[in-house]
Amino acid sequence: KKTLFSGMQATGNLTLGNYLGALKNWVTLDSEYECFYSVVDMHSITVRQNPAELRKRARALLTLYIAAGLDPEKNCIYYQSHVSAHAELSWILNCYTYMGELSRMTQFKDKSQKHSDNINGGLFTYPVLMAADILLFQADVVPVGIDQKQHLELTRDIAERFNSIYGDVFTIPEPYIGKIGAKIMSLQEPTKKMSKSDENPNGSIYLSDDPDTVMRKFKRAITDSGSEVLYTEDKPGVKNLIDIYSACSGKTPDEIVREFDGRGYGDFKIAVGESVVSVLKPIQDKVDDLNKNKDYVDGIIKANAEKASYYANKTLRKVQKKVGFPERI
Ligand code: TYM
Repeated sequence: KKTLFSGMQATGNLTLGNYLGALKNWVTLDSEYECFYSVVDMHSITVRQNPAELRKRARALLTLYIAAGLDPEKNCIYYQSHVSAHAELSWILNCYTYMGELSRMTQFKDKSQKHSDNINGGLFTYPVLMAADILLFQADVVPVGIDQKQHLELTRDIAERFNSIYGDVFTIPEPYIGKIGAKIMSLQEPTKKMSKSDENPNGSIYLSDDPDTVMRKFKRAITDSGSEVLYTEDKPGVKNLIDIYSACSGKTPDEIVREFDGRGYGDFKIAVGESVVSVLKPIQDKVDDLNKNKDYVDGIIKANAEKASYYANKTLRKVQKKVGFPERI
């Protein structure tokens, strides 16, 4: 079986973008791949976090992975900070990554503008830790949204550089970007991606939003001038709603355009909202169940951290040897 790795930050409230762009695609992959999914809490502290809040959110995210349908027996779901090999490999790879490469990362440029009072080293080397995540498991495939593509290209460059010096150490990973849902946009500013850190809560659907909130946000969603439901770049608001509806209902954009031919935006927005509610409700119910079952989730956390460490350490030991660290006696 080929190997797959992906991760998500436990920062902020997860949005429908995270679900449709990532999680939703993940749950179908375990028959084909050996899957590792990390809650990347070490990435989260590149911006300042409230410790109690981070701990709570990390747990909520791990629970959500399971609730969204990742079977923890078949998918290795774990906290990044529980597997120390991430930090160790990340250090080594830092020494094989150029300042120039890291300076070109658009996420770094965005984040250092947004957090200009705390442009720390971790924020700068963030993509190297991400490369370590992926390369530790010799992942063949990495499912992500479009915004992570540049980081993945850097990961490939680092891996190829390392391999060209030391021989075939790392598998070169391929991105896996779903066609629909790869970029869900803000409901209020459809030219911006839907983001956990958006200040305007009406722009994002959070996975924890109750049905009334979901419906209200869709009713208020920005549509474009005119009244026809058309799938075109000139109508980014409507196009985004079609993408969401398509991802949640399984209907194609063409079918949706036909379904709403001659009907106004009002009906359309209600249908989109209802399709989202029908996707979120079962997940929220499962989260509630799992929260009542603390021991079960604790058991998964422990067993999977051990499993992840086992695979990660295999790669780490190989790399340490290649770069010339003394053998363990
Ligand atoms: P993060 O936590 O920002 O996002 C998690 C995943 O959700 C996708 N995503 C979206 N997809 C569609 N539309 C959106 N509006 C949207 N917003 C987010 C992201 O592309 C991502 O796939 N650096 C990563 C986490 C990470 C990682 C890794 C990913 C750390 N190590 C190794 C893959 C492999 C991040 O911050 O994602």
